[in-house]
Amino acid sequence: MAAHFLFLALLALASSHAIASDPNQLQDFCIADPNSDVFVNGFVCKDPKQAKAEDFFFSGLDKAGDTGNKVGSNVTLITVDQIPGLNTLGITLARLDFAPYGLIPPHTHPRATEILTVLEGTLYVGFVTSNPNNQLFTKVLHKGDVFVFPEGLIHFQFNYGKTNAVAISGLSSQNPGVILIPNAVFGTKPPISDDILAKAFQLDKKTVDWLQAQF
Ligand SMILES: *[C@@H]1O[C@H](CO)[C@@H](O)[C@H](O)[C@H]1NC(C)=O
Repeated sequence: MAAHFLFLALLALASSHAIASDPNQLQDFCIADPNSDVFVNGFVCKDPKQAKAEDFFFSGLDKAGDTGNKVGSNVTLITVDQIPGLNTLGITLARLDFAPYGLIPPHTHPRATEILTVLEGTLYVGFVTSNPNNQLFTKVLHKGDVFVFPEGLIHFQFNYGKTNAVAISGLSSQNPGVILIPNAVFGTKPPISDDILAKAFQLDKKTVDWLQAQF
């Protein structure tokens, strides 16, 4: 009997750890009301009687993002900001465009796991586990391949081929967030002291200043 209760208690504990990163739903939907001046975790719901199909709709993901920038990539992220009906639903969609050899630099999504599929071209992707191992997992992905980047871990996507590449990602938050490592380290406003970065990266301060000047 005691073993039975222990089993149930462990089961309850295990399932309470299985919840997604966004809080669970208490109703069918909660369309974001961008005009509310109440601040909650997410957005206040607009009156459900005022719900329209447009609240759950976005058009334009067929259009490629402009990859004419330093890294040769562009992410079109469709979050609760574009689709107010996503509020509280714990999901987001993104289109990733790459010029030949284009890169989405190492970054993390603090609130979401990402699942990606390649529609066109070839991508070399990878993620790194937390300390102390910092193990790198990589894969070359072709059209139709799918890869997962676990929540919070640093990852990158690189166009391995001589043609453009396109991928679609689902992310497990209405607002996954993105922290680009180079920008969050060398491109901050105001800059992080070059003493700090020189020590952290074992560089001389001139190199740090040069890196900071690239942003
Ligand atoms: C991504 O593409 C959009 C649409 O073409 C463009 O407005 C935006 O500036 C691009 N972003 C970057 C970082 O190049």
